[in-house]
Amino acid sequence: MAERRADDSTAASTSRFEEEEREALGRIVHAFQTYAIHSDLQLDRWKFHFSQLPDRHKQILHGQSTKYDRAAHCIKSNQRFFKAMLKAFDDDEGGPSHLAHAADAGYEAAKAQHKITPIDADKVRYVLKNLARDWSSEGAEERQKCYTPILQELKKLLGTDCSSPPAVLLPGAGLGRLCCEVAGLGYQAQGNEFSYHMLLTSSFILNHSHTSHEHVVHPWVLSTCNQLTDEGQLRAVHVPDVPPGDLVAGPGLLSMCAGDFVEVYSADENHHAFDCVVTCFFIDTAHNIVEYVELINHCLKPGGYWVNLGPLLYHWADSTSSEDMSIELSLEEVVRMAASLGFKMIRNELLQAPYMANAQSMFNTSYDAAFWTMVKEADVELSCNQHDHYYGHPADNQCHAQSGHLTSPPPPPPPSIRKPVAGSE
Ligand SMILES: C[S@@+](CC[C@H](N)C(=O)[O-])C[C@H]1O[C@@H](n2cnc3c(N)ncnc32)[C@H](O)[C@@H]1O
Repeated sequence: MAERRADDSTAASTSRFEEEEREALGRIVHAFQTYAIHSDLQLDRWKFHFSQLPDRHKQILHGQSTKYDRAAHCIKSNQRFFKAMLKAFDDDEGGPSHLAHAADAGYEAAKAQHKITPIDADKVRYVLKNLARDWSSEGAEERQKCYTPILQELKKLLGTDCSSPPAVLLPGAGLGRLCCEVAGLGYQAQGNEFSYHMLLTSSFILNHSHTSHEHVVHPWVLSTCNQLTDEGQLRAVHVPDVPPGDLVAGPGLLSMCAGDFVEVYSADENHHAFDCVVTCFFIDTAHNIVEYVELINHCLKPGGYWVNLGPLLYHWADSTSSEDMSIELSLEEVVRMAASLGFKMIRNELLQAPYMANAQSMFNTSYDAAFWTMVKEADVELSCNQHDHYYGHPADNQCHAQSGHLTSPPPPPPPSIRKPVAGSE
């Protein structure tokens, strides 16, 4: 009887968990579905302020209304992209199971009249800029600075004979371009990502784009500050610059694992599972960076490599919630901490690396990013059971449930039919 009660309560908590996941997915899908609505509000704001001007000023700025019309057109084009993306999950048999009911989840969120917050809206716009970074010709220069040094380092460390492909883990995979490039070297690349915004978009690009320049987006249409020209603000970006299937060296070399890095990779099955861990603009997303480094140690085989490129712009540093732990170390402290956790530095430099730069803006950020390679010389124990240890609120746009599942099949070598990778659902 007691056993049965335990079973019932496990089943209840599993289904509550699934419900919460579906709700989280639904909110994000709903934000994508209503992109044009919340973007038009921005347009209305511009128009309202313009309408308040004295007539003489309106005459001087007479080109504004044409610009607003053109912006409305760009917004429609962005919405078309998101519509095509969400449609792809409607009947995507064989696709990632955690995204399979995306459309339904979105309609449920709409029915529940879920309100799109400015943060939700912002994250959707951020995806468009990430598309430019990862999947446009315009992003090539940025990728040259951020991804090429990593790829060159991997070739040096892991070689080019891939009869038995080395396993490379890339946590915080974003829209998956670097994962594809790593799989393009003939290595077994596994991306990990927890944001539903990124998971939906990367899955669409990786699994449903088969020709170059298939889609058009206007990533900067709503960015009004520091624009050099109207053309620059409204310009189109065509994605993908290359079909992902053309980048990957062979079937089964690329997989995506959805879920929180800490939750997923602390599992025993990931102990000593990888020859290399690549962190690109990722380590500063940690609540507790020491925990990330312990996990990287946990996942690496003895003698495995950790290649890192990125700044230390701690993501939780500005949180006002006392529940959001944020351990903010200097670079010097990170390097010392890694050494005490079994890593030996074999390459250490600073590299100029931009993030989501807009080549036609008066404002751009470029980091003196830390670029290092460390070798794992010793095993360390995980300090605690990571499953019992969550330092922040599970944010509502994040996917937590998919631990250990390979969720995205490799992109098809065109024009063949996509097959799931071994171990995927
Ligand atoms: C700054 S972005 C970098 C993305 C990509 N590596 C690049 O260079 O373009 C950091 C990424 O890490 C993801 N991320 C943050 N914390 C994570 C976690 N705990 N587990 C998995 N992904 C995470 C975010 O959703 C985001 O896509």
